[in-house]
Amino acid sequence: MPDMSVEVGGLKLRGPVLAASGTFGYGTEVPLLERRALGAMVSKGIFLRARAGTAPPRIVETPSGMLNAIGLQGPGAEALIRDYAPKWAEWEFPVLVNINGESASEYGEMASLLDGVPGVAGFEINISCPNVEQGGLYFGNDPRAAAAVTDAVRKRTRLPVWVKLTPMVSDIGVIARAVESAGADALCAINTFVGMSIDLNAYGPRLSFRTGGLSGPAIRPLAVHLAHQAARAVHIPVIGIGGITKAEDGLEFLVAGCTAIQVGTATFVNPKAVAEVHDGIAAFLAARGFSSLAELPRYLPRD
Ligand SMILES: Cc1cc2nc3c(=O)[nH]c(=O)nc-3n(C[C@H](O)[C@H](O)[C@H](O)COP(=O)(O)O)c2cc1C
Repeated sequence: MPDMSVEVGGLKLRGPVLAASGTFGYGTEVPLLERRALGAMVSKGIFLRARAGTAPPRIVETPSGMLNAIGLQGPGAEALIRDYAPKWAEWEFPVLVNINGESASEYGEMASLLDGVPGVAGFEINISCPNVEQGGLYFGNDPRAAAAVTDAVRKRTRLPVWVKLTPMVSDIGVIARAVESAGADALCAINTFVGMSIDLNAYGPRLSFRTGGLSGPAIRPLAVHLAHQAARAVHIPVIGIGGITKAEDGLEFLVAGCTAIQVGTATFVNPKAVAEVHDGIAAFLAARGFSSLAELPRYLPRD
């Protein structure tokens, strides 16, 4: 068995395959999953206060993917600390909390509240949130706002800070460099694309929220490209996300310059997806005579 361990953004992980935010709940709702293969888990996105999320229907199947508009439903930070973190503290893999806010200071408040809580190993900042103080523009679309959020979190914690980039930008490298300068330890690329699906009987959108985030194999080539672009732009590690369902998909991101990967939607279809991706990557490395993942050749020319 090749050495699959990776060091990514301040954490040493036993393997490169992570569970993506929102597709794995708080890790307590997925009994079928083989946890042995998990490098780490990222929790469902959480705000300071509890949120009910959007009205159903919240999920629509699309060709090779799905649209979701959950609206970041969650119990709030206090409940997460009380109900979930104590369980995470006993698990053999780290759990990062996906944090969300309506202002940069709210992100900072979240970080200081969760910093030092046993079971919380680090933060993944979701910058795909509307900036309420600046007219609802997404933090992730504006390098200054993205950097301000990163800085607000960085100043309030010594835990690893990862920033999850949105694909809905014209140049992901600009945002990647801005959050790297603000102190991010790693980047996660990418979150979902905004999409829409129309019900021809209702003559209107299938999702009650009108639009949703597109995920699954449909987005994979777009995601590989954007993760690669982000990796070229920075010197911190990039964690590739988007449409990974099998080992070869994950390997594409790794060869394209990513240090680790996250599996999301695939778990909905196949609860063993994380384990199969992990084991398949190990088998690929062994078959090609590599004794560790670190020996995998990368395609990462610098701009
Ligand atoms: C149902 C659902 C909920 C999600 N919730 C979150 C979330 O709370 N925070 C976040 O940063 N990303 C969230 N995501 C995005 C995923 O973590 C991931 O970036 C995206 O789905 C692409 O990966 P995939 O194609 O492997 O699913 C969610 C995705 C899905 C499908």
